[in-house]
Amino acid sequence: MSAPSLSIVVIGLGARARTWLKVISANPDLRLAALCDPSEAARATVSAQFPDIPVVPTLAEAFAVRPDAVLLCTPPSGRAPQIEAACRAGVAILAEKPLADSLSEAAQFVRMAEDAGIALIVGLNFRYLAVTQAKRALLRDGRVGHAEFGRFLYERWRDGMQPHLNKYPLEMVHPMLWEQSVHHFDLMRFVYGTDARRVMADTFNPSWSHYKGDTNVAALFDFTNGMRLTYQGTWQGGLDRLDFDWRTDCTEGVVAQRDMFGDLQMARRAEGALAPVQLPPHEPWISDATGLLAGFVNTVRGVSAPECTGRDHLHSLAMLEACIASSARGAPVWLEEFAGLTGSAKLEKEQS
Ligand SMILES: NC(=O)c1ccc[n+]([C@@H]2O[C@H](COP(=O)([O-])OP(=O)(O)OC[C@H]3O[C@@H](n4cnc5c(N)ncnc54)[C@H](O)[C@@H]3O)[C@@H](O)[C@H]2O)c1
Repeated sequence: MSAPSLSIVVIGLGARARTWLKVISANPDLRLAALCDPSEAARATVSAQFPDIPVVPTLAEAFAVRPDAVLLCTPPSGRAPQIEAACRAGVAILAEKPLADSLSEAAQFVRMAEDAGIALIVGLNFRYLAVTQAKRALLRDGRVGHAEFGRFLYERWRDGMQPHLNKYPLEMVHPMLWEQSVHHFDLMRFVYGTDARRVMADTFNPSWSHYKGDTNVAALFDFTNGMRLTYQGTWQGGLDRLDFDWRTDCTEGVVAQRDMFGDLQMARRAEGALAPVQLPPHEPWISDATGLLAGFVNTVRGVSAPECTGRDHLHSLAMLEACIASSARGAPVWLEEFAGLTGSAKLEKEQS
């Protein structure tokens, strides 16, 4: 007999919730119990789509349905009342990335959830792409030896005025880092299986930017396992497209990913030319969210160890904070500076 479905409330019914509502509706393990947003326009759109589900303006009404789980699709700033309500009600949380808009607030949320004994999982959907899983496996199975250095490029023209896109990033101080690079930094940690040790970064905003805050990030990371990586990210580069190119140079060859959702290639050095790595079929945005949600359901049911935990996420947020600090100081920053918030053991000191 299959387990009874879990009831879930979705809070925040904007751009990202559109994908989640599709993915949750297709999952027989979950049942939408209520939808919540203070915006009347957002509620009206969703009510038309889900006429049988309560669509409410307040957190109190949302938690009154006594859900098993809550999905936060709200902007990262101002989530304290949502996290507090979930902790009080003993409800498992799946929160969109970034968990908060500062490392210190995210660390408070993680402690609150741990004290309340509830799961706090972060929506790092890119970990669940076939390309990510295949690359991680490839770098572990020794076919190209050990990774020593890499280059990660994400150059996008993101027209923040487009109606289907969220608007709050237009006002953020560091929209590129907190909204976009957070995925990239998480992927680096996940794929290379290591944590950042030190970063030298420069963030800025080009004169033509639509955004108030910095849309360009250049960073040179080194990691505790000796890996080095050069990162370049922008939301205001090029004309109308996204250029993605993440190459990893290893002791015996090269692994390249030339598309955010696929196009994985590899070569042993002696082969001289990259060849495609076969990937299972996937649907961008859907397969990855589906995998993330399956992991969340298993965590709530206690049948598998939690993935993408809030506590793990603190290490990616520390990388964002370290980039900001490094750019402001014009100097390298050691991640050890944030160990009091991430809860990590003291990171290795640089060898002089
Ligand atoms: N994982 C991904 O690939 C991905 C993609 C896009 C966005 N996101 C994340 O999803 C989150 C939401 O982004 P979005 O693009 O949907 O933003 P959005 O602005 O389009 O939607 C946010 C919604 O939350 C509502 N809201 C604001 N405060 C609220 C509150 N206190 N209670 C309930 N609802 C509230 C707003 O009215 C709005 O409808 C962000 O954390 C963002 O980074 C993740």
